[in-house]
Amino acid sequence: MTNMNKFKSGIFAAASIFALFSAGAQADAGEAVYKKNCMACHQANGQGMAAVFPPLAGNSNITDKPAYIAETIVKGKSGKVTVNGAEYNGMMPPMAYLSDADIAAVVNYVNRKFASGSKEVSAAEVKAVR
Ligand code: HEC
Repeated sequence: MTNMNKFKSGIFAAASIFALFSAGAQADAGEAVYKKNCMACHQANGQGMAAVFPPLAGNSNITDKPAYIAETIVKGKSGKVTVNGAEYNGMMPPMAYLSDADIAAVVNYVNRKFASGSKEVSAAEVKAVR
């Protein structure tokens, strides 16, 4: 292998490690934001609380709708929502004070971990729903 090729594969390896690391770091950041800001109501496994806080786990309203999840966090939510046949009529306070990056991380965490989705949202896209 020439030195140039070694150099290129070194860069490639470093870039792959960085990509893995940043995906992992975002998942952890999302979990941390969830624990701090959402878990009190939506519970540790996103199961919610019957008749009071709707579940995020298995909630088909939110699967792969990252813009909707982001908007709910930024603007809050009130009025009737039906989740898997059960009705909720509560109030979620707006949390616009969270940073775009924290909201993106928690949206991606909730969508992937609880709602079986895979669509990701970026901090720039969160900014656009504000
Ligand atoms: C103080 C309690 C509370 C906190 C904290 C809270 N929520 Fe909620 N959330 C609710 C309630 C209550 C509703 C339903 C509002 C309604 O009935 O209109 C809701 C609704 C939602 C919905 C819409 C569900 C649907 O089926 O349309 C999403 C998504 C959501 N919350 C995500 C989050 C995320 C993510 C966080 C943390 C960043 C969070 N919530 C923090 C109480 C809370």
